[in-house]
Amino acid sequence: MTIRNEGDQSPTEMAKALRTLPKAELHLHIEGTLEPELALELADRNGVRLPWTSLKELRRQYDFSNLQSFLDLYYRLMSTLRTARDFRDLMLAYLSRAAADGVRRAEIFFDPQVHVNNGLDLDMVMDGLLEGLRLGRERLGIGGGLILCIVRDMPVSSAQAILDAVSHRKDDILGIGLDSAEVGYPPSLFADVFSRSADMGLHRVAHAGEEGPADYVTQALDLLHVERVDHGVHAADDPALVRRLASEDVPLTMCPLSNRRLQVVHDLKDLPLLSLLDAGVKVTVNSDDPAYFGGYIGDNYQALADLGMGLDRLALIARNSLEATFLDEDAKAGLLREFDDWSRRFIPGESFGGAGSAESGKEESGKEESDGGSSPNGADRKGTARD
Ligand code: HPA
Ligand code: ZN
Repeated sequence: MTIRNEGDQSPTEMAKALRTLPKAELHLHIEGTLEPELALELADRNGVRLPWTSLKELRRQYDFSNLQSFLDLYYRLMSTLRTARDFRDLMLAYLSRAAADGVRRAEIFFDPQVHVNNGLDLDMVMDGLLEGLRLGRERLGIGGGLILCIVRDMPVSSAQAILDAVSHRKDDILGIGLDSAEVGYPPSLFADVFSRSADMGLHRVAHAGEEGPADYVTQALDLLHVERVDHGVHAADDPALVRRLASEDVPLTMCPLSNRRLQVVHDLKDLPLLSLLDAGVKVTVNSDDPAYFGGYIGDNYQALADLGMGLDRLALIARNSLEATFLDEDAKAGLLREFDDWSRRFIPGESFGGAGSAESGKEESGKEESDGGSSPNGADRKGTARD
């Protein structure tokens, strides 16, 4: 495809094009969508004591110096979530925002170990989140699934206990992930947990290379057999690893505004997103914890446009995100057809072909676009690259 470094569109045209660009969000912590106003409201409604009582005071806590300084606030505010209604409303509020940003599919992290530690019943948490997803599908036409994130700085035994607790409803979960404080908690610690998850039929992803070294990304591939890498910024430090990610077609779920706010990079232009994309890595753009990092997914795309990234590259990133979902092939082809319609309108003449393109999907499926798929989350758990 043609690579242009500067956009040909006016700022208004660009904003409209980005908002309507069909995309998937693949790196989003539902607890990270808890806006400070709502956290205070929930604290009040649920009788949870926080050290901050006014919005002004609370807002002062959002000046982060690294991942841990964010996590301290994130876990603190999470304690205000207490009921199934809280989780359902949080999910629905996120999906409404995402739908307005052109998100057609969201594969969403949650941190069950933290909620259980806060004294909540795991089934109640999941019921609330799943009800929100159901309503989002019904009202907004946006599909989604849940990825259970293992909190890597909690004991491995607690990760195993969470797998025990969800084993009776594993079809309600799309996959397993790994998040929280990275350095000092390498993927190797979780090889058994991930191997058991694979046996349960779960997809596998992990945060790696956010603050940790490129070697953690390699470990995630070799020891956890992940199908996507979350962040992966430091993969760029190892040229052989970059070549491997490209040749094995492993998507990276990158989060520009998060990386800037947590000082993974000082400036967005220092993020190796463009060089990874140009090296053939399947880069996607996501929001991570939008209530904390100053923007939802549309703002992340817009930030790249503001840096001078052209619409053709931004469109490629969105197309990558649709291809990187855990949807079955029919549902994926449906979303890729939506992308093709968008592309004919906004960048006529641009070609985004390739294996699994909407054109080939069209011939094969002959089916109405659907986001449902055959399993509860529309996911195909069988034909994955590294199973
Ligand atoms: N990194 C690691 N853990 C997290 C993050 C993140 O950006 N957000 C929520 N948990
Ligand atoms: Zn994250």
